[in-house]
Amino acid sequence: MNIPHEKQLVIASNRLPFVVGRDHDGALEVRPASGGLVTAMLPILRENGGTWIGWTGLPEKDDCSAAALAQSAGDPGFNVVPVSLSDEEVVGFYEGFSNEIIWPLFHDLPSFCEFAPSHWDYYLQVNRKFARAIADNAAPDSLVWVHDYHLINVGTELRRHGARLRTAFFLHIPFPSIDMFMKLPWRQSLLRSLLEYGLIGFQTLRDRRNFVQCLRQLFRDVSVSGKGQVLQVGVGDRRVAVGHFPIGIDFADFARRAAAPEVRERARALHNLLPDRQLFFGVDRLDYTKGILLRLRAFREALIRHPELRQRVTLIQVVVPSREHISRYFDLRTQIEQLVSRINGEFTEPGGWVPIHYVFRSLDPVDLLAYYRAAEVALVTPLKDGMNLVAKEYCTCSIEENCVLVLSEFAGAAAQLRSGALMVNPHDIEGVADAIYRAFCMPEEERRRRMRRMRREIMRRDLFWWVSSFFNAVSKEVPHELQTNQSDEHGALVDGANPADAQPRELQRRAS
Ligand code: UDP
Ligand code: G6P
Repeated sequence: MNIPHEKQLVIASNRLPFVVGRDHDGALEVRPASGGLVTAMLPILRENGGTWIGWTGLPEKDDCSAAALAQSAGDPGFNVVPVSLSDEEVVGFYEGFSNEIIWPLFHDLPSFCEFAPSHWDYYLQVNRKFARAIADNAAPDSLVWVHDYHLINVGTELRRHGARLRTAFFLHIPFPSIDMFMKLPWRQSLLRSLLEYGLIGFQTLRDRRNFVQCLRQLFRDVSVSGKGQVLQVGVGDRRVAVGHFPIGIDFADFARRAAAPEVRERARALHNLLPDRQLFFGVDRLDYTKGILLRLRAFREALIRHPELRQRVTLIQVVVPSREHISRYFDLRTQIEQLVSRINGEFTEPGGWVPIHYVFRSLDPVDLLAYYRAAEVALVTPLKDGMNLVAKEYCTCSIEENCVLVLSEFAGAAAQLRSGALMVNPHDIEGVADAIYRAFCMPEEERRRRMRRMRREIMRRDLFWWVSSFFNAVSKEVPHELQTNQSDEHGALVDGANPADAQPRELQRRAS
């Protein structure tokens, strides 16, 4: 991949691209981390070089040095700076504020939020830790690129730290509508923190629009100028660039790997094991946002409404373990397993057809590609998703272009793929069931026409396009000289806004 080179690139994300554990003898064990952020950023860092700052996933007492980690990861081609989190920080910052407040709220599920005030204190504490690690590892001309919802406050902490660096932020998940965002007790602080970056990137136009609306609601003196992919936004004396950059995948690399003989063989073997039927495929991290339960119900509904599907389709549903220490995730696993077993109990033909093959583990990359290649239809039906790279990877690996993507309207990818995918509302069980049947019946010519359109779009806006447009915006919009504001706060609150959330609670306590 030919990526425009950023000489001193420092990226920070909560997770490093590996999850680290220890074996029985205490030796480090390194496994690849899962999720779209890592899939996208790993090839960029490998190609560009630079520094990746993030959490290893190890408990603090077991933590390891950067050197030991780099050695166990087999020289990844960039510097790795591990940040360690105490057990309390894991609970308050990672599980609590990040994954029991921002994650559900930004995915439109406010009733799933646990708005515990202490979570916010841990969020600030860990963001400060990351800011310190960045300041210690960045050079004066570095571009510091901070990723995702765990680290929004790093911008503020860098300014407090006095670091004079070029900074940019990319949010991989959706930015919610104003009605949703206003529920957040710390709404003003989070917006102010985002304004500390030189460039803020969102996945879709809708996310950017939501962000600007929230600014207008919560601050006076908001001005917006420019048009196209990147806007200039002013709040009081603060100026930032705000863009939408739909994240892509390395199309050429996925297509090349999918065409490898090993993948073709495994895909063929899969079809031989499950002959005379179409394979439907879903692969998702264990997450309530992915709509797995509703999808399973829709599949059952399809088998009831369209009995000719029986024995002629098999759904392979892979669930990749994720965040199981959080009770909602743990419970979701149980619910999925109960539903799979109920549906299989209802329809399985003894000695023959089993409607759902369920896999609960992360896949080896060759197996994932083989599933993508073997499946005639992919079901990507999140309730809401920043982008959803699985949808793009599936189409890319469909090198014969003879497959169907059933896609949720609420995935970020819908904006790009709606002309080729069968679009569904994941809450509409009968609608999804009918889309499943339509996919099953779709003539080859229509499959090819639709798939070709999607593959063209994914190839045009691939990972290279994404990084190039982001870096171009950085070089145009983020000056090399100090761009953080020296005053502690900027932008007056609108009347009626709660000034209490303009400051971290910790500072409020100190002041009172
Ligand atoms: N993936 C993975 N391990 C697996 C199966 C899939 O890392 O066992 C990858 C998949 O290839 C994709 C990413 O996980 O790149 C999922 O990204 P997506 O944007 O679809 O959703 P996210 O998990 O980030 O919410
Ligand atoms: C999504 C988020 C990432 C996160 C990933 C895996 O893709 O946008 O920031 O890393 O899920 O979740 P985890 O909690 O295991 O890091």
